[in-house]
Amino acid sequence: MIIEIKEWLKEAAGFIQVSLTQKLRVSQKSGRTDLVTNIDEETQSFLVKKIKQNYPDDRILAEERGFDKIESLNGRVWIIDPIDGTMNFVLEQENFCIMLAVFEDGIGQLGFIYDVMKEELYWGGKNRGVFLNDQPMVRPKDASLSEGLLGMNAYMYGKNIHSAGEIGHASMGIRVSGCAGVELIAMLKGNHIGYISNLSPWDYAAGLVLMDEFGFRYSNIEGKPLAFSKREYFLAATPKAYTEIQEHFIQNSK
Ligand code: IPD
Ligand code: CA
Ligand code: CA
Repeated sequence: MIIEIKEWLKEAAGFIQVSLTQKLRVSQKSGRTDLVTNIDEETQSFLVKKIKQNYPDDRILAEERGFDKIESLNGRVWIIDPIDGTMNFVLEQENFCIMLAVFEDGIGQLGFIYDVMKEELYWGGKNRGVFLNDQPMVRPKDASLSEGLLGMNAYMYGKNIHSAGEIGHASMGIRVSGCAGVELIAMLKGNHIGYISNLSPWDYAAGLVLMDEFGFRYSNIEGKPLAFSKREYFLAATPKAYTEIQEHFIQNSK
């Protein structure tokens, strides 16, 4: 399964790279800053077709084209974000990822985050470790909030939602990439100590599988398990930084 998923992702990434030389069809979803392109849709259709051909009994949760709801995570479920960071894709032509996860009965088994323009595939699975292309990655150190950079959602930081501003000030600084995949990669590399955002299941599913392997902690912002059924405020961090960030929430809600 791993070999074929890697082949599908590389084929999809090649197709996305070529698409950047052609005219994109860009549409708005919920508003002016919520975009989808023909390439998001075509990439998802390509991956869905591969899964249906090879694993016809499996279910799929994916961002576009009516695949965005699932009643439960029972059985084997594929979770796909065909292009994570569509705004970057349209305006920067870099800093976007394909993300794919395989869950079984609610437990993450495989996760893949492909930085398309860098041609870097971060992947791994339960008890398999984490790899960058073919190279095993080293587990980052358990750094505290004051020691590291924190990935952040710009809106949450600007409006100080859930004390995001104060938490950012307690870190070495915040970073805003506009792509959940890029933020999760930064954590896996040990470049960032955490990430606070507002995410849907396809934004975090692959990252959770990889973060589990490296002992990161994650939850919704209230410390409860992620729902996999809606967009919600999201926190992931090293164990030390996770506890410190939760303490900020408790202090600031008093
Ligand atoms: C978005 C990006 C962004 C995050 C948003 C996501 P999309 O994904 O990951 O960084 O802040 O919440 O929706 O829409 O480009 O796939
Ligand atoms: Ca996304
Ligand atoms: Ca997307």
